[in-house]
Amino acid sequence: MLAPGTMLLTGSGRLAPAGISPWAIQVRDGRIAWIGSTADAPSGDARVDLGSALVTPGLVDSHTHPVFAGDRSDEAAARLEGAPYTGGGILRTVEATRAVDDATLEALCEKRLRSALAAGTTTVECKSGYGLSLDEELRHLRIIRRVAERLPVRVVATFLGAHAIPDGMSAADHAARVADEMVPAVAAEGLAEFVDVFADAGFFDLAATERIGRAAIAAGLGVRLHAEQLARTGAAELGVRLGAASVDHLEQLDDEGVATIAASETVATLLPAPAIVLRDRLPPARALLDAGATVSLASDANAGTYGGFGTMPLVIGLGATLLDLSTTEALTAATTGGADALRRPDLGRLVVGATADVVAWDAEHEGAFALRLGAVKPLRIWISGEEIGL
Ligand code: NIG
Ligand code: FE
Repeated sequence: MLAPGTMLLTGSGRLAPAGISPWAIQVRDGRIAWIGSTADAPSGDARVDLGSALVTPGLVDSHTHPVFAGDRSDEAAARLEGAPYTGGGILRTVEATRAVDDATLEALCEKRLRSALAAGTTTVECKSGYGLSLDEELRHLRIIRRVAERLPVRVVATFLGAHAIPDGMSAADHAARVADEMVPAVAAEGLAEFVDVFADAGFFDLAATERIGRAAIAAGLGVRLHAEQLARTGAAELGVRLGAASVDHLEQLDDEGVATIAASETVATLLPAPAIVLRDRLPPARALLDAGATVSLASDANAGTYGGFGTMPLVIGLGATLLDLSTTEALTAATTGGADALRRPDLGRLVVGATADVVAWDAEHEGAFALRLGAVKPLRIWISGEEIGL
């Protein structure tokens, strides 16, 4: 007999990425208590059989920007006709977002996170960053917190006050305000676990980024950076020096940067969706993995460069087809890699002791993420051992 509060998930299909079949997972108190082949499984009455379905850890989307209003699809269209991406459109979203009330913004954010959950994302990192002023940034982070309290999806909040330079300010002045006023306020209210900076050409240079990163560390928060997207600036190396959990984008990264990241604990988070929407170079995924870096795949769903919330199955498919990863590597990057990018080693893996976030898919093999690009759907989802109604 199983102890109270335990459940045995079983299947005759494939448990990925480990590839065990037939398999069983015993869940106790929201964690995986046992995992192995069905023949050796502990017996008990609370048994849920998932048949031949592909079963994976819940997906971890370690990079999203879900708090914004307005629409910039006209900008995307213009870009595809040759207009350059300067990131300048961020200020347009800031204006549109400031103009809407809490209830409206909260509903928009909730809708986006519900889409993510329905597509198999069980943990989602959510950045502020379309507020820029102290009051607006705090408002957006509080909205993330309220939505997180209502939804079963696990939310990790990140403060991205240095996402763009407000009109009439210099980057250095805004960075000083972010570092000296905003980071301490965010930390005091416990509104975020991480601080992020758009550390790129035309935005925040290495000195400004380091100033904000040091303030984050002093306030007890983790660091993650938007790095090497628009230009090769050295932001990846700065992230490594700051002990960043992750450096994200990396489209312009070179061999030296690959080697530095691979020799560090910092995760390389790759975002293929905005790279293709921007018709940008693709990040050196294969080189990073071959060099021994931990790679995470995330959506970067946001207002201006990729608007697809709830598309992690597509992102896995893009990782496999465009970034030269195997489907197993792509799935691992979107689960274990994402968890590592959020410094949550208890998530994103099906091992004893891990949090029981499990998804059964309408597929039989992880190759479906490549074959059916974006069209693989969850059948059933558990978060911390609790089944989520779909
Ligand atoms: O991750 N690079 C900066 N931030 C977003 C884009 C934001 C926007 O254009 O609204 C990104 O791609
Ligand atoms: Fe981003």
